Amino acid sequence: MTQSAIYSRVVGTGSYLPARRVTNQQLAEELATRGIETSDEWIVARTGIQARHFAAPDQTSSDMAVEAAKRALDMAGLNADQIDLIMVATSTPDFVFPSTACLVQTKLGITNGCAAFDIQAVCSGFAYAMATADNFIRSGAYRNVLVIGAETFSRILDFNDRTTCVLFGDGAGAVVLQASSEPGILSSALHADGSHSNILCVPGNVSGGAVQGEAFLYMDGQAVFKLAVKVLEKVAHEALEKAGLEASAIDWLIPHQANLRIMTSTARKLGAEEKMVVTVDQHGNTSAASIPLALDVAVRDGRIKAGQNVMIEGVGGGFTWGAVLFRM
Ligand code: UT7
Repeated sequence: MTQSAIYSRVVGTGSYLPARRVTNQQLAEELATRGIETSDEWIVARTGIQARHFAAPDQTSSDMAVEAAKRALDMAGLNADQIDLIMVATSTPDFVFPSTACLVQTKLGITNGCAAFDIQAVCSGFAYAMATADNFIRSGAYRNVLVIGAETFSRILDFNDRTTCVLFGDGAGAVVLQASSEPGILSSALHADGSHSNILCVPGNVSGGAVQGEAFLYMDGQAVFKLAVKVLEKVAHEALEKAGLEASAIDWLIPHQANLRIMTSTARKLGAEEKMVVTVDQHGNTSAASIPLALDVAVRDGRIKAGQNVMIEGVGGGFTWGAVLFRM
């Protein structure tokens, strides 16, 4: 007897942004008090960012992840205890350990002993987590998986470095993936090249009771820009090819929201400029949280509908990149 195929379907999305919204103008004024010069004009022209949200001092990635997860569970019509696996993509975990996923599990009141772990692929983290969850579901290991991207990048920003501190924001997004006989995730492609680890990094570690090295984000913006444009187009085509689809089959493109110029360039090459979901203008770059945040916005405002094909693609530190193509 042949077994019918198992697919992973998105049955719920949710997101959370911390209350404190900071516009470019407000940030420029704050930075000016430190003698750092920047402007709304520069930030908008170079990145498309107009505002970002920053977490409260006592608010952590797991706190925001939990809020996003609750909304995704609610949309899915599931109780938290029906979750079999929790994955949190984050580069700004609450602690060195335990994992943010374990903290999310207990904060959601889950007592079923489900598996929980973090994924560290920086801004590609959500694509990595979706692809990993898909493999767990298709293998039959798990039925309901909570996939979260959550970041408090404000904690690792050097507010004396104008080349990076104007770019990032905080937030969380989540999806519930569920086993189904209907598609679902159609294909995914993940890649990494560690030889570029030095162009985007937080080159510090905890040792002997203190941080050794640097605890602030460093980025060679132009090097990242060039690499990002190159790999994003390639990986999108790879995912399409695996699914046996042409670029014209994409209904919605949700790239990692880092820079509108990078996003537009990739979308144009795919002929999908009109199909791109943009939240970088209001969220800034929220790393692993940016894609699920944008996905939730476009699902809840009615743009993304059941049966449509969505391409997500991420690129970031590591260097890492990846794409996941799925049918809603
Ligand atoms: O999430 C992971 C992926 N990350 C990315 O995709 C980010 C990729 N990189 C980028 O988005 C862009 O490279 C940046 C937005 C970071 C920078 O844009 P750029 O067009 O590459 O600018 P640049 O680094 O070439 O800097 C141009 C000028 C410089 O001045 P000079 O040397 O021409 O006099 C900078 O000092 O802009 C200056 N500058 C600023 N001016 C005002 C840099 N940051 C600022 C600032 N405000 N915040």
